[in-house]
This record gives sequence, C-alpha cells and structure tokens, in this order.
Amino acid sequence: MGEAYEKVLEIASRRGFFWPSFEIYGGIGGFYTYGNLGTRLKRNIEELWREIFVRRHGFYEIEDPIINPSRVFEASGHLTHFREYVLECARCGRIVRADHLIEEQLGIPAQSIDGREVERLVGEGKVRCPNCDAELKAPVTFLTMFQTKIGAKGEEVGYARPEAAQGMFLNFRRCIRQARGALPLGLAQVGKVLRNEIAPRRGLFRLREFTIMEVELFFDPQNPSCPWFDRVKEEEVAILTEEMQERGERKPVRITLGEASSKGLIKAEWQAYFMGVSKEFITMLGIPEERQRFRGHLPEERAHYSVQTFDHEIHLENWGWIEVAGHAYRTDYDLSAHQRHSGVDMTLLRSDGSRFIPHVVEPSFGLDRLVHVALETSFRTMEGRNILAFPRSIAPINISVLPLVAKDGLPEKAREVQRILMDAGLVVEYDERGSIGRRYARSDEAGTPLALTVDYQTLEDGTVTLRDRDSWRQVRQRIDALPPLICRYLKGEIGFSELGIPAGDV
Ligand code: GLY
Repeated sequence: MGEAYEKVLEIASRRGFFWPSFEIYGGIGGFYTYGNLGTRLKRNIEELWREIFVRRHGFYEIEDPIINPSRVFEASGHLTHFREYVLECARCGRIVRADHLIEEQLGIPAQSIDGREVERLVGEGKVRCPNCDAELKAPVTFLTMFQTKIGAKGEEVGYARPEAAQGMFLNFRRCIRQARGALPLGLAQVGKVLRNEIAPRRGLFRLREFTIMEVELFFDPQNPSCPWFDRVKEEEVAILTEEMQERGERKPVRITLGEASSKGLIKAEWQAYFMGVSKEFITMLGIPEERQRFRGHLPEERAHYSVQTFDHEIHLENWGWIEVAGHAYRTDYDLSAHQRHSGVDMTLLRSDGSRFIPHVVEPSFGLDRLVHVALETSFRTMEGRNILAFPRSIAPINISVLPLVAKDGLPEKAREVQRILMDAGLVVEYDERGSIGRRYARSDEAGTPLALTVDYQTLEDGTVTLRDRDSWRQVRQRIDALPPLICRYLKGEIGFSELGIPAGDV
C-alpha cells in the first residue's frame, strides 16, 4: 500500500471524514459512514458540481424514489444486463467476481473480459480459488441489484435503483412540458443508488450504497450541436479511445475536444462538451491535468444502453487509473424502451411535423470516489506534519478560531469572534485545547484554510492574526473587517497577503 493512501485512511477515520459502517457489529463490506468533516467535504463537492453542471446551464434538477417497481428495470434492460459473472470454489465455497479474479491471476484487464472468455478460462482451469487453490465451479451470472417487496403483502416486487438516470427518463414528459417543450433539456439528479457488489473492496471506490450525480441531456438528433461547445473546443485532453486499446496502444493522445469531435473520436458534440466541463470540475477539486485522462469503454464493458462511453479517470498511486465519471451516449435507448413497455408516447414534434424521440448524453459522477480522490490528492506533509491542502471552495471547515491561551479573557473574546464569523455564514471550528502549535496542526490536518488567533493584542486594539494553512504565513487584521475579506478569500477572489498586514510569529 502507498504511504499517502495509508495515511489518508488513518486521518479519515481518526479525524471524522469516513470509516466502515456498522463498526460495533463487526462491520459489513461496501458500506461507509461519513463523519462531520467527510459529510461537509462531500456536500461541498456536490455543491461545486451543481454550480458547474446544473446552475450555470440552467438545467432542471429532480428527486425521484430510490425504490422502483420491477417494471422500470425490465423496461430499462437492467434486469437482463445488470449482472456480473461469479465463480464459486468447488471445495471451500468462496465466491469471487470472475473479471477481478482473472485480472489478479492472469493479468488480463477486467474491462476486456466478456462472458465467453470467463467460461473458456475457467473451463481450461486457468484460474483457481484465491482462498484454497482448488478448482472453481462453472461461472454463473448474478444480478447486482437489491430486490425488495413493496407493501404489507409484498404484492409488488421492487428494486433499489442502480443509477439515478431512470428517474429522468420516467419523468421526461412532465419535465419537458415544464420546460415549455424546449430542447436541449438538461435534467439532473443527485442521490443514493445501490448495487449489491459481489466482493466490495477499495473503500469508497466500490460501495454497495453510494451517491451518484447525473445529468441527462436530451437533444434532437437532427440538431446535435451544443450551443456552448466553443467554450471547451480548444481544451486539450488526454484520450485513449476504444480503437486505440483494441490496437494494443496504452498511451493516450493529447487532442483538443474540437478536433476529437470533428474527427469522430467522440460521437456526440454534447458528449465532448461535457468532457470539457468534467475536466474543469475535476481540476477545481485539485487534481492536476497530468493525472487525468478519458478512456473509451471496450464493447464488452460498455453498458447495454450506450453506443459510446468515456470514463474520466484519475491516476492514484495505489490503484493506478480509476474511474470517477462516465460519459455515455445513450441515444434514444431509454426513452424508446419506456415507450415500448409503458405504451406512453415519448416523442416530440418538430416544426416540420415529423416526430422523434430525443437522444441523450449523460455525464455521471460517483461522489464518494471524488471524496477519496480529493482527500488523497490534497494530502501533503510539512516538517513532519499532515496537511490536507483542499481547494478553499471544498474545505469542510472555513476557519479555526483559537485563543492563544485558555485564560485572561482570551477564550471569551475568541467566542465573540467565532459568533461574528458564524453570523457571516462561515463554518467555524473553535479550539482551545492544548498548545497553540498542536491546535494549528489539528487545523491543518482537517484541511481548514485559515486559523485565526486571538491574543493579548486583540484585547488592546481589536486585531487578530490569520494564518495560512499551506505556507504558515501570518497577517494581522481588524475583527470588524474580517467577514467580507474572508468570504472573498474563500471564493478565491483575493490572495492571502490581501487579508491583512504581515505579522510576526505569535
Ligand atoms: N448512469 C450511469 C451508470 O449507471 O453508471
């Protein structure tokens, strides 16, 4: 295990970002609990996503139920396709996910393994039980959706949704009317989804219950251009296409989104547009460009509803390239399927009198993965101390308020300052326990961008010191000037030196 990864997990559970759930009953794989810092970090990332993907575009947001009747997933194809191959050991009974075991034991990438390949490799005895090395039984498929019964008599079989997207398709007709019939229409949803993973591992990367943030963008296939494409078309991205992988290439090409779209490497302009927005969003979380790429799905890994999918991947020391978002071109697959199964007309009318079913492009983010990535990417040490150097906009706590010592009226004054900052809408942590050095260290480790110290001079002239988490530099400022200055600093409108005049060490 990489050192940063280990350190981040230790900080996460000790300081209250996240930890495995149901601890007091021994835990169960694939479920995590967020603590105070983690809940705030997660919510801040969600808000940034909402700002960039929803508000700025004027898209609509909805909230649809988690439990759906089985008819929804019969129509969407999930009951047929949302399955994984599993292998059971003939001797010890251990159950494993076939593609993961094949990748581990034979080095074949999991995403390139289809059902036929699993059957062949198991039949030829190429993989063995990872627990006792015995032979494995013939592979079977396993539906990775949670089933439940709806109602006291269990009259209706229900499933927990494995994606939020179906909510947007089910409610499309109503939403398009509310949007006065206009395409393109963006519908967004953030919410919990459930997947009954066979062997969850890697902490927040493979959960059985997780938060997804999705936009379904509906457009007329006869008018497929994105009105905002100019904003991103000069943006260069690293792309590893499906065709490049099939040719055995492993190094992505660097290409502008405009070129990738005009050359047909990305099929839909809207998809290319959202890949640009995706890069902007991920970069704002503090992930450098060289650790980002877009990888096209191979046909065997592509979801049943998609004609082209690019994963937005981030390189992590421990796991290599991992997916944080999927950009899928779903065409009219879902609306057509729901029209067929429900009998409800999903078509729209063009001005020339022709009818059509809109096409859909979908950017879909796994929020929990982003929490881990933001945490691991921001981790650094300075003089042996841990620092989580989050971008200011997502840091869970805005500012720590610290009396220099816990006596002589300084705690009372510090509480007053805390109240002023809280009333200005800031998230403030008050801390008077232990030496000032230890409190600075605690504040840095929680990723708090600023630490404010109330000292003896404060009682005389109403000024305090502000300390920068990343450089440990300090400035002095009047209390009454703080609220607007700090708000501007957190928005990135001003730098640290503009917060006050340089101060000596406290
Ligand atoms: N809607 C994207 C996914 O299911 O992963």
